[in-house]
Amino acid sequence: MGERLEIVAADDAGIARAAAALADGQLVGMPTETVYGLACHAFDAAAAARVFEAKQRPSFDPLIVHVASSADAWALVGGAAENQSTLDERGLRVARVLAEAFWPGALTLVLPRPECVPGIVTSGLGTVGVRVPAHPVARGLIAALGEEVKKRGRGRADLPGAVAAPSANVFGGVSPTRAEHVAVPCALVLDGGPCATGLESTVVRPTPEGGVVVLRLGGVTLEQLGEVAGEANVTLAKPGEKLASPGMLERHYAPRTPLHLVSKLEQIDPGSLGGQRVGVLTLTGERGRGMGFAAAEVLSARGDLVEAAANLFAALHRLDAAGLDVVVAEAVPDEGLGRAINDRLRRAAG
Ligand code: TXA
Ligand code: MG
Repeated sequence: MGERLEIVAADDAGIARAAAALADGQLVGMPTETVYGLACHAFDAAAAARVFEAKQRPSFDPLIVHVASSADAWALVGGAAENQSTLDERGLRVARVLAEAFWPGALTLVLPRPECVPGIVTSGLGTVGVRVPAHPVARGLIAALGEEVKKRGRGRADLPGAVAAPSANVFGGVSPTRAEHVAVPCALVLDGGPCATGLESTVVRPTPEGGVVVLRLGGVTLEQLGEVAGEANVTLAKPGEKLASPGMLERHYAPRTPLHLVSKLEQIDPGSLGGQRVGVLTLTGERGRGMGFAAAEVLSARGDLVEAAANLFAALHRLDAAGLDVVVAEAVPDEGLGRAINDRLRRAAG
């Protein structure tokens, strides 16, 4: 933390430099439409180990593998998916339907792990999370890495470019949605501008029965999954099933400043906050005005949950830098992206 990182323009030269760094086994801050990732070459176990170290991430929490296209995703896991009983025909069919609907985009599919992905990337699981990001810089970088690896005469000719990338924050902290937020050691950060979605991907596990288990809510909503896979087939992983997605800890996405989540701002007793510097985070900013807060963040003045999601982490970063004693956040409507926003706020409150 606190280290100065080199932020590089994401032009052709910047992408080529970043691809070379990845091929060398170094780490790169990579923009995606969800959040910035801390990328390494997905087939390089030593580089993946450096990701865990840089993030101070426990080794039981697997990384997502990113590829440049759906075709590349199936080239990566195809053999494994077809040969394994963990995802028979029906599971594979639902995976393909979801990929068709949401890739490139904010959906991670948990699929059988192929041999080429080292065990450290998946924390020893028999599955791998795979995503095709929509951000052109991410896809450009992944494709350039694939070329670079081939140029160096390394790697298998049949394998696509692939990077493993968790969000580029220290483990448990607030995810970066701008290049300047990235605060983990890496060779360079490619500047792809502010993230359009602003929430991590939705992580789902297709089941052999043709169902879809949602392990983490994110940029693709439950409603959208229901429309594509059939509402009755989509279920939320139970809290007890936490280890199904090892990253879903109760305290996560957390600013350093203590954060309280309330369903209505009126619930706070101003007397209980006496003398403290209190910041507030609300959806529209209508409530809380004139309540004497030291800092206020409004996620979307017009109450648009898509805009709110895109602003959430930047707002938390700003509140964290404002020298406050405490932040009070008001839950947003629990629908669409609001569900994922509330999930992040709950975990930030721990
Ligand atoms: O939008 C995103 O998903 C961002 C960008 C960079 O792509 N990445 C991201 O990665 O949020 P991370 O590492 O912060 O979160 C990955 C989540 C964790 O909750 C992890 O447990 C889960 O995905 N995950 C990864 N592989 C898994 C697997 N094989 N089985 C179950 N859960 C998995
Ligand atoms: Mg994360």
